[in-house]
Amino acid sequence: GPARTHRLEDVVGCHVEDAVTFWAQNVSRYNDLLKLSCALAEACPRANAVFGTPDFSKIYGGCFSEDGCWYRCVVQRVVNNEKCQVLYIDYGNSEVLNRSDIVEIPPNLQCPSVAKKYMLWGLQIPTHQNLNMFDQVSGRF
Ligand SMILES: *[C@@H]1O[C@H](CO)[C@@H](O)[C@H](O)[C@H]1NC(C)=O
Ligand SMILES: *[C@@H]1O[C@H](CO)[C@@H](O)[C@H](O)[C@H]1NC(C)=O
Repeated sequence: GPARTHRLEDVVGCHVEDAVTFWAQNVSRYNDLLKLSCALAEACPRANAVFGTPDFSKIYGGCFSEDGCWYRCVVQRVVNNEKCQVLYIDYGNSEVLNRSDIVEIPPNLQCPSVAKKYMLWGLQIPTHQNLNMFDQVSGRF
């Protein structure tokens, strides 16, 4: 049905999960992404680290190990007393973080994620464009 139809030209791939699953960012929300990254850089260093049982429905700030910058994430699972696995909701990648690197963020930063998960079998592409569109999507990664 129409709810499953995505317009590929509005999104840019950002993370490949497996052969048929990828994450793409909504290009009309790039401004949101810039504002978020500034707001997180400001708020996260002085925010409280996650304490006790994480709220799996809540958006936290996570300090990405590769660049030390803060991004929005949700907790996917508790690994042990010290570590949790997080999913960076605006990009689609995940990693295991120390709890000290997962912090509470203000309610105004809890807006919907910029990236969404797509499955190739879920895309409704006109048959004559099939290969062409797939190339375009793959080429962005
Ligand atoms: C992208 O974001 C805009 C503005 O928030 C929204 O109207 C649109 O439906 C989104 N597109 C997709 C593919 O999610
Ligand atoms: C995690 O935190 C502990 C205790 O705060 C610290 O000793 C350890 O080095 C940290 N590990 C990483 C990967 O940051």
